[in-house]
Amino acid sequence: MHRLPRGVLRIPEHLQHRVSKTALVDPFCDFAVATRGIHTLSSVLNIGGISPHDGDEMALDPHRHQDEANAALLIHLNGKLVPRERALVSVFDAGFVLGDGVWEGIRVFNRRAAFLDEHLDRLFEGAAAIDLDPGISRSEFKRRIQESIDSNELKAGAHLRLMLTRGEKSVPFQHPKLAVGGPTIAIVAQYMRDDPELKRRGLRLATVHVRRGRPDVQDPKLNSHSKLNCVTACIAADKAGADEALMLDPQGFVATCNSTHFFIVRRGEVWTSTGDYCLGGITRGKVLRLCRENAIVSRERNFSLTEVYGADEAFTTGTLAGLVPVSEIDGRTLPTQGAGEITGRLQELYRAMIREECGGLD
Ligand SMILES: Cc1ncc(COP(=O)(O)O)c(C=O)c1O
Repeated sequence: MHRLPRGVLRIPEHLQHRVSKTALVDPFCDFAVATRGIHTLSSVLNIGGISPHDGDEMALDPHRHQDEANAALLIHLNGKLVPRERALVSVFDAGFVLGDGVWEGIRVFNRRAAFLDEHLDRLFEGAAAIDLDPGISRSEFKRRIQESIDSNELKAGAHLRLMLTRGEKSVPFQHPKLAVGGPTIAIVAQYMRDDPELKRRGLRLATVHVRRGRPDVQDPKLNSHSKLNCVTACIAADKAGADEALMLDPQGFVATCNSTHFFIVRRGEVWTSTGDYCLGGITRGKVLRLCRENAIVSRERNFSLTEVYGADEAFTTGTLAGLVPVSEIDGRTLPTQGAGEITGRLQELYRAMIREECGGLD
């Protein structure tokens, strides 16, 4: 099949007047948007300070679609491993039409998917919340994920995006009953390059006007395909020259970031939000556990921007990049540039936790 530029719908010329199932959309188009900015968090892969690609010629640039190694990776689509150029879903897919689906980002080390049970718990919980039957068992998800890792011989630095949507619809409308033929399940493997400059200088955050909402509007606990709340926050931060958005809750307390969770360190204590207005973060949970197990005082509490500006250290957490130091918030420079004492200690502990979980860091 002729390779089209990403995001271009493939509608055969002779059928363009009659939209049909042959109209396809490249599932990478959202990914392309998400990684377009040079300083998005997606370009930092220093899990707890690890640079899996330092000096590694497999280091890949996510901004270059033609990158050979990524282009060669097989995509798991509805139970089959297919080359990237054949990993296509219908423009009638509920994920494309409405953002109607749930997803997980998963890191791979030592040929193992890190914290897979937690990711599957969240995926199944989200699917149940939107009344979406995945149609396959938990063990079948595990089998497909391992097959993606093994067939692609994935090394450290690899990331899997597991996507589950309501599948193809008879017409591109909202009602879930219009979905025909069962869900779409895709597992996209991708390498992404570490960004040493960002790691050295730490992230710049900007507080944005877009809030994390209450669960009765769109539950922030859902890792939904539709991420427009986060995307609009991300755009606002980018326009302000920042790497990531800091988002407040409806009361004006600090909630989280647009694609990561947010922590500050004050007088030796680690603070993060109550968690009421953010995704149930897997890395967030691991960091809180590491604090508990290592006599580091941690608090899940409300705090304001004043307390953020007065913090000694700050960092973000997420599966993709682990713990990433923050150096600047709304133009205020924190006392520590790069990882401060407690951030650095937690990075070390998190790295050890992954080594234990996956049996290695390769
Ligand atoms: C909005 C948002 N916040 C934070 C995170 C990080 O969560 P986790 O540590 O589970 O990867 C994600 C990851 O999917 C996310 O989408």
